[in-house]
This record gives sequence, C-alpha cells and structure tokens, in this order.
Amino acid sequence: MAKKKLAVLFGGQSGEHEVSLMSAKSIINNLDKDKYEIYMIGITKKGEWYLYKGDVEKIETGEWEKEGIPATMGASTKYRGIITFEDEKNGFYPIDVVFPVLHGPNGEDGTIQGLLELLDIPYVGANVLSSALCMDKVFTKRIFKEAGLPTPDFVVVYRKEIEDLEAIKKKVEHLGYPCFVKPANLGSSVGITKVHNEEELPGALKLAAKYDRKLLIERGIDAREIECSVLGNENPQASIAGEIVPSNEFYDYNAKYFDGGKSLLLIPAPLPDEKMEEVRQLAIKAYKALDLRGMARVDFLMDRNTGTLYLNEVNTIPGFTKISMYPKLWEVSGKPYSILLDELINLATESYNEKCREW
Ligand SMILES: Nc1ncnc2c1ncn2[C@@H]1O[C@H](COP(=O)(O)OP(=O)(O)O)[C@@H](O)[C@H]1O
Ligand SMILES: [Mg+2]
Repeated sequence: MAKKKLAVLFGGQSGEHEVSLMSAKSIINNLDKDKYEIYMIGITKKGEWYLYKGDVEKIETGEWEKEGIPATMGASTKYRGIITFEDEKNGFYPIDVVFPVLHGPNGEDGTIQGLLELLDIPYVGANVLSSALCMDKVFTKRIFKEAGLPTPDFVVVYRKEIEDLEAIKKKVEHLGYPCFVKPANLGSSVGITKVHNEEELPGALKLAAKYDRKLLIERGIDAREIECSVLGNENPQASIAGEIVPSNEFYDYNAKYFDGGKSLLLIPAPLPDEKMEEVRQLAIKAYKALDLRGMARVDFLMDRNTGTLYLNEVNTIPGFTKISMYPKLWEVSGKPYSILLDELINLATESYNEKCREW
C-alpha cells in the first residue's frame, strides 16, 4: 500500500509554542515510517511557516527554524499540500492528511482547521466549530449547561467593565470566595488567578484583561483534578481517568511547566469503581455535547468533600509527549502510543469522507 503523505504541523503562534515542539517530537518519532511519509511543518511564533527536513531532535531546541525552507499551505484546492519557496523557485508537495500538533490559539481554536477545510485535506481532531467552542471557556460552559452537564457556576465580565469594581463585586457575590478569574480564551493557566477575597479581585481582573477582552469568574471548588481521554467520531470511547496533584496551590503555569516534575500524575486516578465509571460517562457526554471528532482530553474538578464531579474544560489538541496525560491514559487503557496515532489518522479520514460535497 502506498504510504500516506502526512504533514505534522508544530510550533505555532501561541504561548504554548514550546509545548507543541515537545508534543510534535514525540509524535514524529513514534509514527510508523512504513505507513507514513512525514512532512514536518514548523510555524514560528511570528507565524512564519517552514518545511523542515532535518533532525527531529532539533525541533524541541528551536534549531529547526534556521534550517527550514520557507513554505505555506494555501486555501486553493488546486494545491492540496505544501508550497515551498526556495531560491526563487516554487516547490509543491501534495499532502493526504494533516496532524495539527498545535496547542492554544492559532492552532487548537479552529483557525488552522478552517484553512484545512478550505484546502479540502483531512486533518486529525475536532472540526472548526468544536475547536473554537472548546478554546473559549465561556462557550464551552454554556454548552455544558445547555446539555445539563455539571460545571462550576460562573459570571462573564468584559474588559471594559472592570473599572466598575463595585458592580463586579455585586455580580460575583453569589459565587463566594475563593473564586477563579480567567481569560476566556487561553491555556496553560496563563492569566488565571485564584482570588481568596474581594481585595484580590481588582489585580486578578487586570491580569486576565491583559490576555482577553472577555473574562470569566468562576466559583472555586476545593477539588481534585481528574482528566479523561476520549477518542473517536460517532462512537467515542473513554480511557480510564487520571489525576493531577499540582505542586502549587492550584495547577498554575509554574506547576505545569517549571516545578521540575513535582506535580504528580496519578494513573489511574485512585477512585472507587463507580466514580471512575461516572467520570468516563460524563467525559463521553461532554464530548458528544460539543460534537467533537478524533480526540479530546476532558478535565474535571472533583469536590474533595462531596465527591461531586464538575466539568472544567476540554482540550482538543492535548499535550502529546509520551509522558503526557492524553496518550498515557490510553496506554494504560491498552492502546499503545503508535496505535493511538494510527487510529487518530484513520478517524481523520473517516471524518473527511463524511463531509458533504453536494451543492
Ligand atoms: N473553578 C475552579 N475551582 C478550583 N480550581 C480551579 C477552578 N478553575 C481553575 N482551577 C485551577 O486552575 C487551573 C487552570 O484552570 P483551567 O480552567 O484548567 O485553565 P487552562 O486552560 O489554563 O488549563 C486548573 O487546573 C485548576 O488547578
Ligand atoms: Mg486546564
């Protein structure tokens, strides 16, 4: 069988650029080279695209940027693939399927997915709408509410409103303290503050407003953090759940990336069987409510005292290093990393074939 021409997109214009480099390195190293002809496309933080043909090890270090050939993927279906610009000559590499390994804005949020829809190339993961819905925490929560799924109560505040502190204090009174102030669209805990009392509110609002014009203020849950991997299109399957024990007061940016591994990943999460089952069922319900495709990691907050589960957020392109939660959970659920990659690519083709082209 002919090898599939697979483009792996990595880097990207987002605060999670470095995480993407790590995820991409793992994915490229573990793809079956007998099945795929791999094209590595790096996107710099400035948004410049390069076709990279060098050593995979140089992806994580950022050295790939110096060796890449200027490239792009357009919207015209006449050129379903990568166009390169080298020595005043253009090159063209047709592509069968794309694996966007981009976390956060400009990659996980529907923008790249939109480009690939126009180009009419199958791609791994959620479609435009679901990607965008999951990137915006307010919309994700509105879908949860509409579907009758539990999520912590919240209030939406816009940047232009934050000067009127008294009005905001009133608006959030029913949430109580601690509460969490977050930018609506971001990841990696950037711009998020745990607010212990009214006095801390203005600083938290100001910080979040640096990153987004739309903020949410959420009821704080004294919670254990449970995560579950979901895979599939029409009939999604849930992995066993894992637990994160953050090294800081909450799972903030430092705890995620700079604590030298002090945050713990417990796999499986130490939960009674019925709780584990409840997590998995809820994860699938959330996945279906958001009409997700391919994959997603569904994150929960579980009240320490009552055991009540709340949906926190959904990541449509979760961290994907070999030790990341998403693939790890599948591995212990009996699906090794390389098999998982094959399944994701097959799901991309399946989604593509279902697309309506009658008009
Ligand atoms: N309502 C909440 N109650 C308790 N902890 C929360 C709440 N919201 C967020 N957190 C803490 O903040 C972290 C980051 O918040 P999250 O909404 O997951 O944003 P991100 O997309 O940046 O990961 C969570 O992992 C958790 O530790
Ligand atoms: Mg999170």
